[in-house]
Amino acid sequence: MEKWQSRVAFLMASIGSAVGLGNIWRFPYVAYKNGGGAFLIPYFVALFTVGIPLLIAEFAVGNIFRKSAPYAMKGVNKKVEWVGWLGVFSAFFISIYYCVLIAWCLCYIFHSVGLVWQPDAANFFFEKFLGITSSPSILGSINAQIAFALLFVWTSIYLILYKGVKSIGKVASIIVPLPTILLLILTIVGISLPNAGSGLDFYLSPDFSKLSNPLIWLSAYAQIFFSLSLAQGIMIAYASFLEKKSDIANNAFITAFADGGIAFLAGFAVFSVLGFLSYQTGMSMEEIARGGIGLVFITYPTGISKIPFMASFFGIIFFITLFAFGLTSAFSMVEALSDGLKDKFGVAKEKANFFICLIGFLFGLILTTGGGIYWIEIMDHFISNFALVFVGLLECLILGYIFGGERIRKYVNEVSEIKIGKWFSIMLKLFAPIILTLIAISSLIELLAHGYNGFPGWSLAIGGLFVILILIISIFMGRVKCLQEQ
Ligand code: ALA
Repeated sequence: MEKWQSRVAFLMASIGSAVGLGNIWRFPYVAYKNGGGAFLIPYFVALFTVGIPLLIAEFAVGNIFRKSAPYAMKGVNKKVEWVGWLGVFSAFFISIYYCVLIAWCLCYIFHSVGLVWQPDAANFFFEKFLGITSSPSILGSINAQIAFALLFVWTSIYLILYKGVKSIGKVASIIVPLPTILLLILTIVGISLPNAGSGLDFYLSPDFSKLSNPLIWLSAYAQIFFSLSLAQGIMIAYASFLEKKSDIANNAFITAFADGGIAFLAGFAVFSVLGFLSYQTGMSMEEIARGGIGLVFITYPTGISKIPFMASFFGIIFFITLFAFGLTSAFSMVEALSDGLKDKFGVAKEKANFFICLIGFLFGLILTTGGGIYWIEIMDHFISNFALVFVGLLECLILGYIFGGERIRKYVNEVSEIKIGKWFSIMLKLFAPIILTLIAISSLIELLAHGYNGFPGWSLAIGGLFVILILIISIFMGRVKCLQEQ
């Protein structure tokens, strides 16, 4: 039976999974778009009402059943094994495009050396680096540079996972503190740049009027959900390697606060540089603070290249930070699936990991083409807004009603330093399901009414089909009887 070598190893691995690309570019942008400083209110409400309760519940069932997510679900009730599969397949699906993003970061570590994106970072990113095509229907050819970087990323994941949980703990214990320190350095440098204050004002000044918009609240829940790596079977699998009766509540609080804290810090690092960029170019913050992938690969590099001293160095450490945080999230997604396959078919994890990494790499190659960026955006939208929210909703219902919210609370209080009150069951059984249903419905209405980001309808239909395909495969996996069960 695999086990973490220490509590710290488990915590580092969990924090490593939670903290990822989502914290560095997604949080600052989502916060700014949704009322700046005022966004912290829905963000913390979301953290306490859905994020922490679901994280506690996932850690608890992982520790009670000491199995992968599909088998923990099966332990609750045979009929819901498929929900666990839906989570871990969603995680694998995310890892396919997530690793391509990490591969971009790896390439940008080297591009930082000569600040090669100058003088026009947008042109460099889209035309020279990606060779973007004019539509998602035209894929173009595989980009050799990104494909090599992708091979490196998947090989690293395979090697890290090869020696099992012990090496995950060791690697996470090194990888997680390192980029945290680098991020602190970037923040200190950022806030000491001229006009950094106006960028921070832009990031933090509360626009309370936005809080009356329900969509802001929904954004906060979606952000917490993605960022804490919930509903992907990851936290269940990680908690299954803990000693029996290990602390649950305190570990969940530490993981959740570390994740939120690093996201908040990243906002300082990013927006201080954007304030400086607005001072250098005379552009307003509204013009500069465009979100999405552009924030990390276009706007921030442009800002960095204007720093008069050690600009290349800051570029290098920024992309190393992204690369390192991304990698610890990516391998947790693979681990969740290989753990499930080991439980189901009795296959050795090394073998399962090899095939998962190989398949992830081969599918990822499609995303290294000139049309890849379109598909990354489509896949990300469907998986985070629909698949994960759906799994999260089912998890709350299964754990809250079939297994029992109070039963989980009792277990958690038996083993944890911090005791949790009745609020936990109320959140798990009532509040979280209602809010997750609202997110799913509003995302669906928004998609049907306005499409998504100008993408053609047929490409969105393919995105939706992918989610349905994962659902069918998961139901099939839940029904198929493996050799041990016959
Ligand atoms: N939780 C990971 C992130 O935020 C996936 O990037």
